[in-house]
Amino acid sequence: MDFMDISKKRHTVRKYDRRPVEKEKIEKILEAGRWAPTAVNAQPQRVLVLDTQENLEKVRAFCTFGWQKKYVELAKESDTEGHEKIVIYYGAPVVMVVCYDTEECWIHPESGKASGATDATIVATHMMMEAASIGLGSAWISYFDEEKARELLEIPKHWKPVCMLYVGYPAEDYMPNDKLSGKRKELGETCFYNTVPEAM
Ligand SMILES: Cc1cc2nc3c(=O)[nH]c(=O)nc-3n(C[C@H](O)[C@H](O)[C@H](O)COP(=O)(O)O)c2cc1C
Repeated sequence: MDFMDISKKRHTVRKYDRRPVEKEKIEKILEAGRWAPTAVNAQPQRVLVLDTQENLEKVRAFCTFGWQKKYVELAKESDTEGHEKIVIYYGAPVVMVVCYDTEECWIHPESGKASGATDATIVATHMMMEAASIGLGSAWISYFDEEKARELLEIPKHWKPVCMLYVGYPAEDYMPNDKLSGKRKELGETCFYNTVPEAM
């Protein structure tokens, strides 16, 4: 599959099969992240792979929130049965917490801006694309309680979590979320040659 095909094939999977993911496939995803570019090649990313029942229960705990109407589209695939909670876990068998080391990332000398979040984002994107290329589903998750995650997973103070990637085989009855997936603005609405249009 060429890159354009993978780009179009990848979409967010919000319901996973219980089947475990083969170790070689997990390693491939990590390897794809390893080759991502980072500022001054500092490689500040730190990826915590969670695949034990105990750790996945922790993920459930720090991705459980009170019911919020604005997340109703995401909640469609969430475990909301029997309680007024939205659980953004989707039954993923593997969860990768993508962090960066605040002491190892490049800091822009003039602006003082740290590049770690950008680096970790690129790493996570490489990993999602690799997952798609080897037939796995993934979901980028930002909506979690960072402090609770830090505490439950014992994430060091100098690591900053950027996102989680849920990874696994899509559930048999999984359907892409028709409101959120598969729709993109026309190129002309987001990309411009040489001049910013006045209407912007
Ligand atoms: C920065 C970022 C944060 C996201 N956070 C969440 C999230 O917390 N929960 C979730 O279910 N999906 C999350 N997503 C997935 C987006 O909703 C999804 O990528 C978008 O709707 C486009 O759909 P597609 O990935 O199927 O193409 C996130 C995606 C990005 C890039």
